[in-house]
Amino acid sequence: MPQTMTTRILAFAGSVRRESFNKKLVSIAVQGAKKAGAEVTIVDLRDFPLPLFDQDLEAEQGMPDMAKQLKKLFIEHDGLLIASPEYNSSMTGVLKNAIDWVSRPEPGELPLVAFRDKAATLMSASPGALGGLRALVHVRAILGNLGVIVLPEQIAVPNAHEAFDPGGALIDPKQQAGIAGLGQTLASFLLKWKA
Ligand SMILES: Cc1cc2nc3c(=O)[nH]c(=O)nc-3n(C[C@H](O)[C@H](O)[C@H](O)COP(=O)(O)O)c2cc1C
Repeated sequence: MPQTMTTRILAFAGSVRRESFNKKLVSIAVQGAKKAGAEVTIVDLRDFPLPLFDQDLEAEQGMPDMAKQLKKLFIEHDGLLIASPEYNSSMTGVLKNAIDWVSRPEPGELPLVAFRDKAATLMSASPGALGGLRALVHVRAILGNLGVIVLPEQIAVPNAHEAFDPGGALIDPKQQAGIAGLGQTLASFLLKWKA
């Protein structure tokens, strides 16, 4: 009997804010990814409190448990769905700090094992007019340099403070479909690529 193919996607926002617009955005993309047949794990970076990356701390104490757990999750998934807020024209410190920890090798591991042979899709939401677009440029470059295939499709949702309904869906049906479509596209890409 032919085995049903599936793919695993790790989804998260680069914000720990409780009412984060980017967390809402990534939840919508997850619906699309699941519809396309992916298994999705959503994580909240608030549940992975990491110290600021400090190479002395790493040398003296090794990788913190939380960083190990987060890295393990990256390794166990084929794809990443990331909604990145924009802080001062770039990504948040929380997201960059998480990437820095997860990028660190441990004995016996291949370099960048948490990133290589993964694909990612990016999105952003911001109350500003550009929707966080400038942060995505940086996230794309960083992930690309780490060996991730970052898919070309991305969406930045502007005026995020008035874009969502109380249930967390985007009020504009085109935007809602667009973000769900990003999840669908990543899942379909992974299903083909990993087949
Ligand atoms: C330190 C800081 C810098 C910010 N800089 C920008 C910026 O450059 N561009 C922008 O569109 N929004 C900026 N914002 C506003 C964020 O887009 C807004 O706080 C947004 O809600 C963050 O995403 P979240 O809702 O997912 O937490 C900034 C917010 C903070 C706290």
